[in-house]
Amino acid sequence: MKNCYGLILAAGEGKRMKSKHPKVLHSICGKPMLDHVTGALKASGIEDYIVVIGHGGEIVKEHLGENVKTTCQREQLGTGHAVMCCKDFLSDKTGTVIVLAGDVPLINSETISNMLEFHNKNKFSATVLTAQVDEPQGFGRIVRNSAGDIEKIVEHKDATEEEKNIKEVNSGTYCFDIKQLNGALLQIKNNNLQQEYYLTDAIEILKSAGHKVGAYKTCYSELMEIEQSSGRYTVPSVAMGVNSRIQLQEASEIMRKRINLKHMNNGVTFIDANGVYIDDTVVIDRDTVIYPGVMLEGNTRIGEDCIIGSDTRIVNSIIEDGVHITASHIHNSHVKCNAHIGPFAYIRPDSVIGSNVKIGDFVEIKKAVIGDGTKVSHLTYIGDSEVGKNCNFGCGTVVVNYNGSSKFKTIIGDNSFIGCNSNLISPVEVGNNAYIAAGSTITDNVPAGALAVARARQVNKEGWVEKKGIWNK
Ligand code: UD1
Ligand code: CA
Repeated sequence: MKNCYGLILAAGEGKRMKSKHPKVLHSICGKPMLDHVTGALKASGIEDYIVVIGHGGEIVKEHLGENVKTTCQREQLGTGHAVMCCKDFLSDKTGTVIVLAGDVPLINSETISNMLEFHNKNKFSATVLTAQVDEPQGFGRIVRNSAGDIEKIVEHKDATEEEKNIKEVNSGTYCFDIKQLNGALLQIKNNNLQQEYYLTDAIEILKSAGHKVGAYKTCYSELMEIEQSSGRYTVPSVAMGVNSRIQLQEASEIMRKRINLKHMNNGVTFIDANGVYIDDTVVIDRDTVIYPGVMLEGNTRIGEDCIIGSDTRIVNSIIEDGVHITASHIHNSHVKCNAHIGPFAYIRPDSVIGSNVKIGDFVEIKKAVIGDGTKVSHLTYIGDSEVGKNCNFGCGTVVVNYNGSSKFKTIIGDNSFIGCNSNLISPVEVGNNAYIAAGSTITDNVPAGALAVARARQVNKEGWVEKKGIWNK
């Protein structure tokens, strides 16, 4: 967007999190809070922005990467001081700057855009995003005059008893005319209870100098229906600051509902969305059905017409169309069309499960490619392997890929049949159309089309029990 810039304040320590990690890097639905804020800013069309870092600054900077501008606030002397640290960024710019807090992760692009429109339409030099709340404890209060216009913002700690009764609060999100803001910053003092330079004082400073300032109250169309109807939340989500683990979980709950609602609107069925946890980063195509107790995380993509059954966890994986998964874990893997997995299967990283494959109960696959149409129905381990198409694994097959120090590879050709309770001692190759007799321990390669039997022959000792005198009469 032309002449519109962003500032994100993320230098605070976040003492109440009781964490060794910077507050803004705590995750909500699989993404650090800070990324939700930058995401909302970018979605509203603002590409040029700077992040004020301080506490844990190096880690935050590393997380943001080289392409994001940052400025360091060495001492956290308040939100006004944090904005002063962006002097260089602002000095050559004119237009509007949006100021956001890195710990208000539920801010969304719709709210930012509406606030900006309100700001521009009224030609304000500053606009603050406000919210009507039931419990204003801790927030800055919006003091309006008899005409209903905003006069100033008073911090909770500095408020009089009368001001403490005000239930319209500062969300910590603002629009400023850059030139006016630069002027106001020069006048902000720290003569308050916390001896901090409050950004909120810019409102009173601009107002007293005769500039027009505004307060844009969050409207309910910007909030989710679930949030309005639940009656559980005392603060509208776009103003919800996360300062503690309790607030982190509350914000996660709302974000989770937003995400599930988005998928429902895109044509995904949920049997009961309450117990489904889907990261913000996950993509799901239409007509897929999600059962309760499912967790979909990271860069996961799920195709059309899949059934993701209860107690399934999928992390950073691609699941193609028509796949059925029940009560299984899949990590960093690729499952192709119409495969059936589970219950109780564990697909470990770097596995590729071919189309129409069946992976049954208590099967573990690790770093293995399973060819199309192959069946691995129960109680089997396949690691570091390449398995061909249309093979059948009997119950209890083990690929013995590890000798205690190194891992070895197993290659199995198309259409081969691995009998129950076989061990394949790697490295080993089984050719196409080969058969392995049940109970075999395979140590040598098996040629294509051969039957390998690798077990001792059965010996029956007639009358042995009676001779021993242990026959049970
Ligand atoms: C601030 C507002 C308050 C508002 C509330 C909304 C001020 C003075 N008060 O209070 O009116 O109701 O947010 O959540 O602005 N930060 C820095 N450097 C600093 C101080 C803070 O970068 O020196 C960052 C923090 O990392 C955080 C944000 O600014 O992301 C807000 O700071 P915080 O200390 O949490 O302010 P509040 O007391 O919540
Ligand atoms: Ca805060």
